[in-house]
Amino acid sequence: MRIVVLLGAPGSGKGTIAGRLAASDALLRHVSSGDLLRDAVRRQTAAGVEADGYMRRGELVPDGLIARMVGDLTVGVDSACTLLLDGFPRTVAQAGMLDATVASCGASFGPVVLLEVPDAMLVERIAGRRGCPACGAGYHVTNIPPAREGLCDVCGTGLVVRKDDNPETVRNRLAVYRTQTMPLIDFYGARDHLRRVDATGPIDEIVVRVRQTLA
Ligand code: AP5
Repeated sequence: MRIVVLLGAPGSGKGTIAGRLAASDALLRHVSSGDLLRDAVRRQTAAGVEADGYMRRGELVPDGLIARMVGDLTVGVDSACTLLLDGFPRTVAQAGMLDATVASCGASFGPVVLLEVPDAMLVERIAGRRGCPACGAGYHVTNIPPAREGLCDVCGTGLVVRKDDNPETVRNRLAVYRTQTMPLIDFYGARDHLRRVDATGPIDEIVVRVRQTLA
């Protein structure tokens, strides 16, 4: 098993790129900590109830909750698979948890791919993001519009705005990224795991760039 990480600010395209990569490779599994948490919130599990307030405010949920959630990350995963982590780790403490997981299951680790996008573009991408609450398909009102305005191309359900995509929460998420997640850039840079990718421009081109770093 191999574990690779997609690192990047809110709106940098982690979910979009990971989804495209996984769709074209049966051995690549996309694991999004944000999606796992949103699912827990929807189902009102104990973890979801605890996480909800933090997520609404754009703060990171406590590391202890993440530890419980990702503790069984590799359980039942075929040894031929690559796990593509999107949104985890997000703090240096979480990187330590991941090290322990990698060591305990004998996986290989790396690279950590940093998606680089200018701040103004991050805000524009998040402002236009829409998602399908039924099947999870993602859109952008101008960059990736659905064929019929406001409706999912896959299942026809009405598209929604994520609860934490309002301007105030987005400002907080970007600030949290700078203070709590950006230290991982130096952390993984010092270990020579970091690969920087220009994540502007057409999605297909970004997918090719990221795939090259994974080869
Ligand atoms: P999470 O869901 O991980 O959110 P995030 O990191 O803020 O990232 P986003 O989902 O906003 O953006 P993305 O990079 O995936 O971009 P996307 O592909 O959607 O986390 C949410 C919350 O959960 C956190 O705030 C925290 O509370 C909690 N959490 C999660 N993990 C945690 C952890 N490990 N520890 C503690 N707390 C945790 O793209 C954005 C938009 O741009 C889309 O509309 C897309 O269509 C569009 N787009 C993408 N690429 C392009 C392109 N090349 N050109 C044009 N448009 C594009």
